[in-house]
Amino acid sequence: MRKKWMGLLLSAVMVTGLVAGCGSSTGSDSKEIKIGANFELTGGVANFGKQTVNGIMLAFKEVNEAGGVNGKKLVLVQADNKSEPSEAANAVTKLITQDKVSAVLGPVTSSDVLATLQIGQDNKVPIITPTGTNPNITVDNGQVRPYAFRGCFIDPFQGQVMANFAAKTLKAKTAVIYIDSSSDYSKGLSESFEAAFTKNGGQIIGKEAFLQKDQDFKATLTKIKGMNPDVVFIPAYYEEVGKINKQARELGITVPLLGTDGWDDSKLVEIAGAAALNNGFFSNHYSPEDKDPRVVKFVEAYKKEYNEAPSALAALGYDTALMLIDAIKRAGSDDPGKIRDALEKTKDLQVVTGVLTLDENHNPVKSAVVIEMKDGKQVFREKVNP
Ligand code: PHE
Repeated sequence: MRKKWMGLLLSAVMVTGLVAGCGSSTGSDSKEIKIGANFELTGGVANFGKQTVNGIMLAFKEVNEAGGVNGKKLVLVQADNKSEPSEAANAVTKLITQDKVSAVLGPVTSSDVLATLQIGQDNKVPIITPTGTNPNITVDNGQVRPYAFRGCFIDPFQGQVMANFAAKTLKAKTAVIYIDSSSDYSKGLSESFEAAFTKNGGQIIGKEAFLQKDQDFKATLTKIKGMNPDVVFIPAYYEEVGKINKQARELGITVPLLGTDGWDDSKLVEIAGAAALNNGFFSNHYSPEDKDPRVVKFVEAYKKEYNEAPSALAALGYDTALMLIDAIKRAGSDDPGKIRDALEKTKDLQVVTGVLTLDENHNPVKSAVVIEMKDGKQVFREKVNP
């Protein structure tokens, strides 16, 4: 009796499963194209995830209002990866196997992205990070990963931009590098900064490390102060960078503090205070001050939608959504494999952060900007072409 019940129950579950499976599949007769969003919506870098999703949603809204893609509406299915690599892997698995999305956008940070790539590859669904800059995301041991793409420049370029800025513009001869050793992003940038800075005749006189979620950096900062470098390079994210800059200034470190795109968040000013950030410089993907008509139009539309200025993350989210939409149009299909093939051929696509052409390693070749923090405001310093 009991066995029979179990059997009945099991088949009921299976039938429901099948029906649900059918209902959620993106068959070609469906009126929707489902795209997954695997982002940091809570946890350490929640602001990053939220802004990127805002950028994506704006692009989807504009395209849907103009009639959609190939006659279908774009639907964004969101999953929160809690700013953790293991959760990012769970989120992508759910989006691909349960929601049956045609492609996945995200995550933001390099370590989170890296944790998802094998799953995309195994299921043959493209994963496109708008923002992950670590080179290993698209190339693994010299081999391009067929299902991995990105919408931004890579860290060897970004590290070089800041090393050149330190050596040439700031005339620095010595530097200390202070990294988050729990982050692939931070570790990669340390290497590329060092290579370019020493090539310029500069010297790295110290390397120090912290961990994500650390609160008190004073012991290490005191040590760094004793080394008396011309600049300190801190390639990390706003939460820790904010605290480090604040504590560095409290300890009397007055030299320029340098960073990278991970500094780009309004929370940085909240955490560090405007004054501590003066004499701070970082590389980024665009400046909302840019007078390029595309930038002006985007900034206006974004402000109208969200009542705040778009960060580089919002711009990259928007641009990467446009890159995916362009690929779906050219593919003429929402089949993940066909979208992958079309993504690979992305060429001369005009977007907010520049012109998107993917190289043979699935990386866009794009310019960077250097931003100076002045009294809590981001001020555009220079644009650097690759
Ligand atoms: N580039 C960062 C990473 O790879 C993410 C990031 C991009 C953060 C842009 C802020 C702005 O981890």
